Amino acid sequence: MAHEVLLIPGDGIGPEVTGAAREVLAAAGVDIRWREMAAGAAAAEACGTCLPDPVLEAIRETRVALKGPLTTPVGRGFSSANVALRRALDLYASVRPVRSIAGVPSPFRDVDLVVIRENTEGLYSGIEHLVVPGVVESLKVTTEQASLRIAEFAFSYALATGRTRVTAIHKANIMKMTDGLFLECARRVARRYPDINYEEMIVDAAAMHLVTRPHRFQVLLMENLYGDILSDLCAGLVGGLGVVPGANHGRDYAVFEAVHGSAPDIAGKGLANPAAVILSAALMLRHLGEEAAAARIEAATYTVLGDPACQTRDLGGEATTAQVTAAILAALERGPADAAPAERALVAA
Ligand code: NAI
Repeated sequence: MAHEVLLIPGDGIGPEVTGAAREVLAAAGVDIRWREMAAGAAAAEACGTCLPDPVLEAIRETRVALKGPLTTPVGRGFSSANVALRRALDLYASVRPVRSIAGVPSPFRDVDLVVIRENTEGLYSGIEHLVVPGVVESLKVTTEQASLRIAEFAFSYALATGRTRVTAIHKANIMKMTDGLFLECARRVARRYPDINYEEMIVDAAAMHLVTRPHRFQVLLMENLYGDILSDLCAGLVGGLGVVPGANHGRDYAVFEAVHGSAPDIAGKGLANPAAVILSAALMLRHLGEEAAAARIEAATYTVLGDPACQTRDLGGEATTAQVTAAILAALERGPADAAPAERALVAA
């Protein structure tokens, strides 16, 4: 039976990279009936809102979406469609597997960690106001319910994927109540997982350890803002934003997207690396139970990424989006003979 999936092509490089992912999924022989709708700047231009209700309704029907990046204006204009989408569908867990890829230029080898980010609250609650002219406030909201469920997600993810350590990242020395509650909830959940080593690390020290000793980390558990910042940092450990996939999970719905944004500097030029969205689409296939096709796509993508002749500019090469996509299609066609080892199961939800 065909899987019904909502495709949001997104802004900037979004249509280029999601188009590539669609081609790759078709070549892998997965039967998907796509529905396509705009959100973000494209929707704001067309219908005056960056997250039209029909988009949310469509995801409530398909339950699964593949999403390109959405542009959010800085310091003015409409608020983030990404944040609104995650909150409206209660996609509380962002999962970003960060993994070294043989042949991809990067500062480290053999990094294999996962960022698990709380996606619905913290400083992204959108509660900002003017107190008096010259003074503004932004409120950080932390709840016991959201902190417990993201911790539970992180520990069960670690267990399901054979990982043995969870590191909770915080700033509870300064934000004693909000991050203090987040940690207290993580500790409560940790007590129920005696086989998983639990540790805590202050976010500034974690940033330093990540860029000096990334191998010590397996599963990183954190609130919204730290997760947003550190997942880009972690992408830098393995070759950058062009190679790191992501997923947003809730109880009822899942939306798959790369870590990167709409990259306006290279949009429309055919230079974007499609790998991050293709790997996000592979995570989506695992979620849909299409393990074999996901493994073949991951293997083909890793093989191609490791070939300097197929690397886009972000990896120091000269290849175009179309050339990388064609090479992945060819590697899929060739089959497993020269395939890289398949990714371990990544999705616990
Ligand atoms: P960005 O991730 O779009 O770009 C940062 C740098 O990485 C740029 O130099 C870009 O060219 C490069 N880059 C990103 N993805 C690439 C790819 N696939 N291939 C090759 N190079 C790539 O971050 P930036 O510039 O801060 O944000 C641009 C817009 O994207 C903003 O409006 C931001 O709000 C939005 N954004 C959306 C996200 C989402 O929809 N999930 C996530 C992050 C940012």
